[in-house]
Amino acid sequence: MKRTKILFLSLMAVLACSRQAGTTTGSTPEVEARVDKLLSQMTLQEKIGQMNQISAGGDVAQYAEALRAGQIGSILNEVDPEKINEYQRLAVEESRLGIPLLVSRDVIHGFHTLFPIPLGLAATFDPELVEKGARIAAIEATAQGIRWTFSPMLDIARDPRWGRIAEGSGEDTYLDARMGEAMVRGYQGNLADSTSMAACIKHFVGYGAAEGGRDYNSTYLTERQLRNVYLPPFEAAVKAGALTLMTSFNDNDGVPSTGNTFVVKDILRGEWGFDGLVVTDWNSMGEMIAHGFGEDRKDVAEKAVKAGVDMDMMTYGFLSHLEELVKEGAVKEKAIDQAVRNILRVKVMLGLFEHPYVDVAAGRAVQYAPEHLAAAQKTAEESAILLKNTGVLPLKAGVRMLVTGPLADAPHDQLGTWSFDGEKEHTVTPLKALQARFPGQVTYVPGLQFSREKRERFDDVLAAARHADVVLAFVGEEAILSGEAHSLADLNLKGSQSELLKALRSTGKPVVAVVMAGRPLTIERDLPHCDALLYSFHPGTMGGPALANLLFGDVVPSGKTPVTFLRTAGQAPMYYNHNMTGRPFIGGLLLDDIPLEAGQTSLGNTSYYLDYGAYPLFPFGYGLSYTTFAYSDIRLDKGVYGKDDVMGISFTLTNTGNCEGTEIAQVYVRDLVGSVTRPVKELKAFERITLAPGESRTVTLSLPVSELAFYGLDMVKKVEPGDFQLWVAGDSASGEALSFKVK
Ligand code: GLC
Repeated sequence: MKRTKILFLSLMAVLACSRQAGTTTGSTPEVEARVDKLLSQMTLQEKIGQMNQISAGGDVAQYAEALRAGQIGSILNEVDPEKINEYQRLAVEESRLGIPLLVSRDVIHGFHTLFPIPLGLAATFDPELVEKGARIAAIEATAQGIRWTFSPMLDIARDPRWGRIAEGSGEDTYLDARMGEAMVRGYQGNLADSTSMAACIKHFVGYGAAEGGRDYNSTYLTERQLRNVYLPPFEAAVKAGALTLMTSFNDNDGVPSTGNTFVVKDILRGEWGFDGLVVTDWNSMGEMIAHGFGEDRKDVAEKAVKAGVDMDMMTYGFLSHLEELVKEGAVKEKAIDQAVRNILRVKVMLGLFEHPYVDVAAGRAVQYAPEHLAAAQKTAEESAILLKNTGVLPLKAGVRMLVTGPLADAPHDQLGTWSFDGEKEHTVTPLKALQARFPGQVTYVPGLQFSREKRERFDDVLAAARHADVVLAFVGEEAILSGEAHSLADLNLKGSQSELLKALRSTGKPVVAVVMAGRPLTIERDLPHCDALLYSFHPGTMGGPALANLLFGDVVPSGKTPVTFLRTAGQAPMYYNHNMTGRPFIGGLLLDDIPLEAGQTSLGNTSYYLDYGAYPLFPFGYGLSYTTFAYSDIRLDKGVYGKDDVMGISFTLTNTGNCEGTEIAQVYVRDLVGSVTRPVKELKAFERITLAPGESRTVTLSLPVSELAFYGLDMVKKVEPGDFQLWVAGDSASGEALSFKVK
């Protein structure tokens, strides 16, 4: 007996240590012991109940029976704190084991105080600020009883036709990873604190590569693309301690993510050791039937649980069929135990057993706190991108302004997509901000009431322009024109907005265009009609004061494009970190250059469009300031590095203009020859640097050579020796290459 006991205890110790060692959530042996103890008391039905998530709403009583029976593990879409407390009371006080619910919501860029949409957050290149915004979102949401958000969305998006490009951090893996880590840290904070909100990294994986930019469409990513481009942000967020992850709607190479054992079980669980909770997307389990990947709900429930999915959002597949599948021996109960362990772990770590309820009165007090609004404004200021300025900006105090355009006073649309809990009554629009700050100097003639409105003439606007010193035209997209299920084939300004800008140009007055949109629109045809253009991805609650500060120079624009701006939608997908191809563009005849009856030849041809050339309108990482910057003395501390070295990169940045400004210096690297073809350059570091006019600063950055590792021909991640190039510049299309070697 004694020997057996010692053996058992040793085994438990190893298990506990290995769990702790293998934990990515930060679980501890104490947490695991609590989870195991509770699990041992649960019936199979109660276990399966934890795996069921439902969208709540309406009268709580309708769910009372299911809650008492332990058939619901989580609810989403209830935000009334009193109702949330009642849901929790039924689960905690009237069920056999009293397991609290995980209460969830899409808190994507703020809860009540709305920050810029995530694409705007990425444009700040300021993870610290974005982390602060996520913390504020958690403070407001948890104060109302929400302890789980379905954010950050980490989907790399290289096609602006895809409406959900609004929701992520753009096209670059490195930037996406830094933003995802920041949001995970911000949301979750200190898990023991009641303001901690579990993050949910989504949509796993490859969803942003939907063919044609059509949402929910199939993706065809190779394992190498997954591992080198789409998976790294998720791995970084897992390492940052993300507690949960959501599988995506898309089938990749024929396999829907919710049943994809390779990415969920082999990579996420096996390689990364993720011990958090995996939830499906809304009925993405059920949609595997439509995909043609499962016969019926029972079949897809089996495929999902075997792939490593723990919780079913809105298919009721687990609740309806798992017990039967276990009894038939198709699914082992230990697979159920593992899923329930992952769910209970999150509930224990969030302290839900100790604090399931929320103080309703106190919760109201933190909403829209002044410091929250101030943070939202600062983020909106940093997220705006100056794309053109002939010198008309910054404006001088005292100017008479004509404010026009459908986004000048659009409190709902300014909030952008995924603003479920944003209240437009709290939005401060540009019009309201300018009127408050410059009483008597603002004339407002909208010209268009909404972005899709068509109109022949703008006589009223033009008449008003005659009495103004400057025209401020706020154009862009209604919030509903981007986001989930809202893909566009034509990315031009909708309605008669371009016509409005053209008409304004005829007045001869300086025209400043401010674009508020959920994606990079194709604005090439509009640029000639304005003297300046400021791009603001739907800036949120405080977008108005932020834009007023930017227009008048109280704040100097510093945002950079987190995604390539196309000249036309026909160029999609186009992104900076593309491969070189065997025929990189080195020039070529454009449409109007081609002689009549030109003979066909393939010699000398390269990769580009006859009508739109080879380049975008604005590259990734691009943005102007009211000042200018010069890079000089860019150096590497060595010419040849070993694989374990850390590169020392130094450069001098000078503010060559006449006002203070912030530059986002970017470091790009190219691996010239690999066992597989490599991108022409990849972002490996960035730094926000603020300089006074005339000030120079020598900046030193460290870059571990290990950051140059990639999955090569043998699908093993490693640094391959050879020749490399490095750039330090203010965008992905500028700078001179430095060469170095890795031996
Ligand atoms: C959706 C979205 C997902 C969201 C979920 C819950 O359809 O794809 O991002 O978190 O439903 O609202």
